Amino acid sequence: MESFSVRELKKTDAQALLAFEIENREWFESHIDARDPSFYSLQGVADHIESYLSDFAIGAWHPFVIEDSSQRIVGRANLKRIDSSTRSAEVGYRIAECACGQGLATLALRHLIQESRMRWGLAQLVAYAFKENLGSRKVLERCGFKLEQPSCNDSTGGEDRFVLSIR
Ligand SMILES: CC(C)(COP(=O)(O)OP(=O)(O)OC[C@H]1O[C@@H](n2cnc3c(N)ncnc32)[C@H](O)[C@@H]1OP(=O)(O)O)[C@@H](O)C(=O)NCCC(=O)NCCS
Repeated sequence: MESFSVRELKKTDAQALLAFEIENREWFESHIDARDPSFYSLQGVADHIESYLSDFAIGAWHPFVIEDSSQRIVGRANLKRIDSSTRSAEVGYRIAECACGQGLATLALRHLIQESRMRWGLAQLVAYAFKENLGSRKVLERCGFKLEQPSCNDSTGGEDRFVLSIR
């Protein structure tokens, strides 16, 4: 069975990340909001990595990639908008179409939960998923996230909000 690992995003990942994002662009855009077209160039991805790593340096973001046994990037996962005052953050993940159905999103989300607890001391994680995104909803529920009932003035762009309380 193939082995996979989760590691932090690095500055030198631009070329590999661009290949991953281009190869899976249509697949991602069928599930989640499209990225700006300017992202899809070496400079665009290098800027994106730089911005994520600067946010990591100030403790606002923790970006990871998932690699297969030949060090090819097959997925990404991020702790986003880390807020030490509310002890909360948002999670996001995306897996290459060819690597789906092997538990990689579950592996990545468990890693994010572990980092949230051990490194960041967070108490709550939130995630947003469209109703039709049955795979993602299954991953969230398997990792203990609960669907939150929306209140009248919530605006999440049509996505449902899931919450995990971390003990
Ligand atoms: C959603 C996504 C992250 C799932 O990644 P993955 O690595 O295949 O996830 P896992 O293998 O850990 O688990 C997915 C589960 O959902 C199930 N599933 C997937 N698609 C499904 C569908 N259409 N209907 C019902 N179940 C589905 C799988 O069978 C699996 O369950 P199982 O392990 O019991 O068989 C991946 O499809 C993806 O990256 N999609 C595009 C980006 C995206 O949607 N990101 C999440 C934004 S909220």
